Amino acid sequence: MAHPAAPEARALRVGVTGIGIMGSNHARVLAELPGAELVAVADPDQAQAERVASFLGCKAVGDHRALLDLGLDAVVVAAPTHLHHKIALDVIGAGCSVLVEKPIASTAEEGREIVEAARQKGVTLMIGHVERFNPAVRAVKEAIRGEHILSVAFTRVGPFPPRMSNVGVVIDLAVHDIDLIRWLTDSEIAEVQPQTSAALAAREDIALLQFRTASGVLAHINTNWLTPFKARTVHVATAKKYVIGDLLTRQVTEHFDYRPDGSYSTRHLPVAYAEPLRAELENFLAAVRTGRTPEVTGEQGVASLEIAISCLAEHGAAAPAQRRAVG
Ligand SMILES: NC(=O)c1ccc[n+]([C@@H]2O[C@H](COP(=O)([O-])OP(=O)(O)OC[C@H]3O[C@@H](n4cnc5c(N)ncnc54)[C@H](O)[C@@H]3O)[C@@H](O)[C@H]2O)c1
Repeated sequence: MAHPAAPEARALRVGVTGIGIMGSNHARVLAELPGAELVAVADPDQAQAERVASFLGCKAVGDHRALLDLGLDAVVVAAPTHLHHKIALDVIGAGCSVLVEKPIASTAEEGREIVEAARQKGVTLMIGHVERFNPAVRAVKEAIRGEHILSVAFTRVGPFPPRMSNVGVVIDLAVHDIDLIRWLTDSEIAEVQPQTSAALAAREDIALLQFRTASGVLAHINTNWLTPFKARTVHVATAKKYVIGDLLTRQVTEHFDYRPDGSYSTRHLPVAYAEPLRAELENFLAAVRTGRTPEVTGEQGVASLEIAISCLAEHGAAAPAQRRAVG
């Protein structure tokens, strides 16, 4: 049940459920955001919830139901992915807006149920594809605006995450880049050609994924949990430019003005300074306040998850999603 006063007239009352690595970050940013009041954090790990709550000066509760009893406008769901569906439906059922961490859910069907529930209740639903708010990604998007895009290639590699995850690297990491491919190209993925392997873990921990968008762009994702350092890069080839973005250092360079003698020009592009998570949460809260469509909708979250699942379905490793043609 939401707070009685109109949300546009006061700070939005928000809570976070699942106060692990990502949820703690959400809570930290929400505690600082003007226009938001972090009322409480929830986690079955009582000690963890209390540690974060005492640091940020809010209440600690055991689960999202106790959170909802506090009368909130919005809840961030940062519990493990397999719990997103149940928690998001409860939050929406209570009339609260919800930001669900990526991926939206474990299956596309669960994701669609969340989307439908939010539509019926008329609450805001946003998915935490935070890389959309990475200033380096924004600079790349700006650099290729109006260009004829030929290919997009992401690298997202690093060591095993410290947490025990019950999803593999495709659902956990590649889904970021699937979302970005769809966003950078303004087109849906029409074909998938995946190669995945469980080299050291029970689930896939390394993947090379190839795609073709409906608009004809070729795309590639190289991802794994086996590399001892983190790298996150994007390379975009257009008919007239080659743009390289480092999503960690936030350096973006474009090579352009190709000349017949083989020479070309290079420039470093300006990249804004902004914390992506803060920008994401600001976008979410503005959507809650105004009823505007958030930057990453539930439908988009489902579309990216479906593609990720279809990459696994190619090897029979996951429930089959809507099957894409392979050219
Ligand atoms: N957007 C991003 O870049 C990004 C990065 C990391 C994780 N994530 C997403 O965030 C979610 C959490 O990942 P994480 O890395 O923070 O995991 P984590 O294991 O660090 O934290 C999960 C927390 O949820 C708690 N939890 C367990 N059951 C719960 C329940 N029923 N209700 C509430 N909390 C419960 C756990 O005690 C733990 O504290 C996942 O969906 C993941 O995909 C997103």
